[in-house]
Amino acid sequence: MQTHQFDAIIVGAGGAGLMAALYASKGGAKVAVVSKLYPTRSHTGAALGGIGAALGNLDEDKPLWHAYDTVKGGDYLADQNAAKVLAENAVDAVIELEHMGLPFDRTPEGRISQRRFGGHTSNFGEKAVRRACHAADRTGHMILQTLYQQCIKNDVKFFVEFHVVDVAMNQGHCVGCVAIELGTGEFHVFHAKATLFATGGWGRVWQITSNAHSLTGDGAAAVYRRGVPMQDMEFFQFHPTGLYGLGVLLTEGIRGEGGILLNRHGERFMEKYAPSIKDLASRDVVSRSIYMEVRAGNGIGGKDYVHLDIRPQTVNRYLAEAGETRRVDEAFVARVLAETLDVCRTYAGVDPLTEPMPIQPTAHYAMGGIPTNVDAEVVIDENWTVLPGMYAAGECACVSCHGANRLGTNSLVDLIVFGRRGGMKIAEYVKGADFIPLPANPTGESEAELKRIRSSKGKTRPYQLRQDMQKMMMAKVGVFREGKALAEAVDDVKALRERYRTDLTIDDQGYKFNTDLMEAWELGCLLDLAEATAVSALNRTESRGGHSREDYQERDDEKWLVHTLVTLKSDKAYADNSATLEINTNKKVDMSLAAEDPRFVPKPRVY
Ligand code: FUM
Repeated sequence: MQTHQFDAIIVGAGGAGLMAALYASKGGAKVAVVSKLYPTRSHTGAALGGIGAALGNLDEDKPLWHAYDTVKGGDYLADQNAAKVLAENAVDAVIELEHMGLPFDRTPEGRISQRRFGGHTSNFGEKAVRRACHAADRTGHMILQTLYQQCIKNDVKFFVEFHVVDVAMNQGHCVGCVAIELGTGEFHVFHAKATLFATGGWGRVWQITSNAHSLTGDGAAAVYRRGVPMQDMEFFQFHPTGLYGLGVLLTEGIRGEGGILLNRHGERFMEKYAPSIKDLASRDVVSRSIYMEVRAGNGIGGKDYVHLDIRPQTVNRYLAEAGETRRVDEAFVARVLAETLDVCRTYAGVDPLTEPMPIQPTAHYAMGGIPTNVDAEVVIDENWTVLPGMYAAGECACVSCHGANRLGTNSLVDLIVFGRRGGMKIAEYVKGADFIPLPANPTGESEAELKRIRSSKGKTRPYQLRQDMQKMMMAKVGVFREGKALAEAVDDVKALRERYRTDLTIDDQGYKFNTDLMEAWELGCLLDLAEATAVSALNRTESRGGHSREDYQERDDEKWLVHTLVTLKSDKAYADNSATLEINTNKKVDMSLAAEDPRFVPKPRVY
C-alpha cells in the first residue's frame, strides 16, 4: 500500500474535476486528480450540443432569463439561489473557456456562435433563444481538451487509471480517499485536507442509456456508504433522442438546428404536446410525449421508437411554415452536426442527410446526488450543515440547480461554474486547515470487500446480474412510474443484492487490470444507487419533472416543494440487506427569486 499527501484531492477528471483542480491549484493548493479514466476520455465528452450562457451574441439574452428557464424547466424544484448563480456565472465562465483556447464555432462577425436548445427562451418564456455556445457537436470534448491542457500547465498531478473505492473519514472530517491502481491492483491512500468528488452519474443503472460503461456512480456510492445522504435521487432524466436500441446520445442540438420529431404517420407530434415550443420543449416533456405516441401505436412500424429528421428538405419545409427566412443545406448539417452523422452512419447504418434517425428516450442524467451548497461544499441535512473537507461538483453533486429536470446545456454550465467555485473554496479552505490524521487502517474495509467479491463461489457473472438490474429499472423506474411497480423495484433490488452477496463468480483472479473484479465492484455501487432511486421515487407521491407517477399525476406544490434526502443506515461498511434507508423530506426548496419576483413563483408549466 502506498500513501500520498496533497492539500486537495479531486476524484474524477471530467469537466467539473478539471475545473476544480485548476482553480484549487491556481489558488496555491498542492492538487492531485485521481481518475479511473484518462482525463480526455471522461464522460463530459458525451455532452455534445453546447454550453448555455446568456451571451446574447445572436438574440437578445439575459442571465435572469436563463435562471427563469432553469427554474421552470426544473419544474420549480431547483434551488433558486443555485439557478441564479449558475446563470450569472455562466457568462464569464464561457468567456474564460474561450480565452483558454476552446475552439468555439463563430458567427460571421467572429463572436461565439449560439444555437437553440430545449426550454431555453427569451423574456420569461416568450420565444426560443439561441443560448447554447457550441464547438460543432463536440462541445464537451473540447472542454475536456482545453481544461486538461490548463491543468498540465498549472502543475496539477494526475493519478490516471486509479479507481477510488472508499472515502477516508476521521474526527468528523473527510481526510482523503482510498483507490486501487488498476495496472497493479495495489491499494493507494490519498491523504488530503480537502477532497472533491466529481465522478459523474450512474446512467448504467438503466438498460437504455447514453452513459458510457464507466458511469457507475462509484464516487457517489462511496460517499453514500459512509453515511452522507443522497438528494433527489428520484429525478433521473431520460434524454428524448437516444439512438434506437443502443441509447447513444443524438444531441438536442439536432432539434436546435431545426430537426423534427415524427411518428409513423409522418406527423410532427410535438405540436400536440407543446403547441408553442414544440420539439424544443424540455426533455421530460418530450420523452413522455414519445412514450405516449408509442403507446398510442404511433411508433415507427408499431415499435417503440420514432423518427428524428434533420434532412434539409424536411427542416426547410418547417422553417418556411414557421415564417423563418433561414434555410439549411447538406454542407451546413455536415459541418455543425458532424458527430451525429458519424454516429448514425457507424452504429445504425443510417445516413441522417438522406434518412430520418430512429430514436427512443435514453437514461441520461442524474439531477440528484451528493447534496452541496453553491460553493461545492457537501451538506448533510436540511440545515445545510457542511461536512468539513468534503466537496462535490458536476453530475454526482446535487446543488440543486437543475431541480426535477435539467435543461440541455446546463450540465456543462454546472461543471464549469460549480467546479470553479469548488476549486476556489478549496484553495481558501486548505490555507487555513491542518491535515487531520488518517483513520487507523484506511483500506481495511474496502480491501475486505474486494477480497469477498474476488473469492465468491457462486454461479452468476457480474454482467448477468447487471443486465437483470438494468432491465428491471427500465421497466419499473423509467419514464413513467407507478406505486406497485416501484414497490416491486425496491424488493427486486434487495433480491439482486442478495444474489450479489451470495451467488457471484469472478473468473479473473489476477491483480493487473482485473476488469472482471472492478466491474463487480461497480455493480455493487449501481445496486446501492438503484435502491436509493427506487425508494425515493416510491416516497414522492406526485409528478414533477423527470419523476412522472401514473398514480399521482399532478404536481403537488403544497406538499412537495421539498428535497428528498435518503441515508443508508448500516453498521457495516458495505451494505447487505440488513441496512435500512431513512428518508427525510424536511429540506425546503430555496425560493429566493420568487420572494422578489412573482414570475419565479411556481405555476403550471405550459410550452
Ligand atoms: O443533447 C445534448 O447535446 C446533450 C447535452 C446535455 O445533456 O446538456
